[in-house]
Amino acid sequence: MLCDNNEVRPRPQTVALAINGITRNGVGPVLPSELDAVTSSYHRCLSSEKFIDTFYKFFLAKSEEVAQKFIATDFDHQKLMLRESLLMMVMFSRDPVGVRDEMAKLAKRHDRTGVDIPARLYALWLDSLCEAVQEHDPEFSEDVGHKWRAAMEPGIDFIISKH
Ligand code: HEM
Repeated sequence: MLCDNNEVRPRPQTVALAINGITRNGVGPVLPSELDAVTSSYHRCLSSEKFIDTFYKFFLAKSEEVAQKFIATDFDHQKLMLRESLLMMVMFSRDPVGVRDEMAKLAKRHDRTGVDIPARLYALWLDSLCEAVQEHDPEFSEDVGHKWRAAMEPGIDFIISKH
């Protein structure tokens, strides 16, 4: 991975490490206290164990079509995967190159050769996510909600574009 100052930096092993390694104008890693609004909100949400459960409760209730897609899903595994992929989506909005391979895999899983998710269901996904954030982030505000949407949109557009 090439940094702003042209040093080669080893590729982070996980998205969580990668997000902590984001540099601000090349002046060094962002400290936890400086994490941006969405990442801070993500951590507040995850301090409630029920955040991802709430997301799936809302999402599965949105439409029969959504529920049908998850009919054979192992939700213990799925919840862990979603948790990690949310950070990846945030990363992608900041630096699309850094997580390109992981995002390509996620898009492939959802494309017509994978679980074949039509574009219209992504709006329901995003609404459910924002509803879950609203329920679990004690510092939720309209602004935080807008920032979540803005952070998720590039990843959603990417996945839809690969369908
Ligand atoms: C950008 C939004 C989304 C993200 C970040 C996301 C994330 C994920 C992740 C991380 C996985 C697991 C991948 C793996 O096992 O390798 C997954 C699987 C899946 N996703 Fe999504 N997803 C999104 C949107 C959707 C939407 C809109 C639907 C519509 C119903 C959907 C349905 C599924 C299904 C059916 C699976 C497979 C579950 C299984 O293995 O049984 N996803 N998703």
